[in-house]
Amino acid sequence: MSAHKILVAPSILAADFAHLADDVARVVAAGADWLHLDIMDGQFVDNISFGPAVVETVRGLTSLPLDVHLMIERPDHYAPRFISAGANSITVHVETEAKHNVAQTLSAIRDAGCRCGLTLNPATPFEAVEPHLPHVDLVLIMTVHPGFGGQSFRAGMMEKVRRARDLRDSLGADYDIEVDGGIKPETARLAIENGANALVAGTSIFKAADYKAAIRALREPSRE
Ligand code: DX5
Ligand code: ZN
Repeated sequence: MSAHKILVAPSILAADFAHLADDVARVVAAGADWLHLDIMDGQFVDNISFGPAVVETVRGLTSLPLDVHLMIERPDHYAPRFISAGANSITVHVETEAKHNVAQTLSAIRDAGCRCGLTLNPATPFEAVEPHLPHVDLVLIMTVHPGFGGQSFRAGMMEKVRRARDLRDSLGADYDIEVDGGIKPETARLAIENGANALVAGTSIFKAADYKAAIRALREPSRE
């Protein structure tokens, strides 16, 4: 089983949209591994963010993998547009409110040559994603209820991270385990200790004076 490198994925939802190109260049230079792009439709979550046009813009700014998180209804319908816009990975929600056939959506994303991920809200039991684990490249465990950056990390989600790790081993799978929401050095350490290897962070990076130090502090969280 390949050891999973600790990856930091800044969420551009927290970037300065008035200077998006500058912020992307800064965070890339600061050592980001992926860029996390939060797509919100105002239906699946109570907020609206941006669409394929912004993904295409960011695609033109960097060659880093674009980790697209679809917090939308009918991700099956929209996924092709995000793939055309340059997504390297597309993560969809397992909840019925997303109104799609999860297995078919995951398969269609992969058939289009894109990595596929599956995510679940804090209120959703991990069992909801288990049947799909052999068919994903990434499992995203939401550590906040999706819709907004700047929320507080829910430590109770670490049980799901441990379960994702244990099942990856027992299934002989190789998916990345990603966490998203309230990730800063002390919560990054907890997530890594429980098995996460991909860390999404918006506020703790883009609101920091020094992006490089902020990313390093997540990747190598020193003991408090
Ligand atoms: C929330 C998004 C998260 C969020 C993370 O719905 O999925 O990616 O942008 O923001 P922070 O790191 O500020 O909690
Ligand atoms: Zn996200």
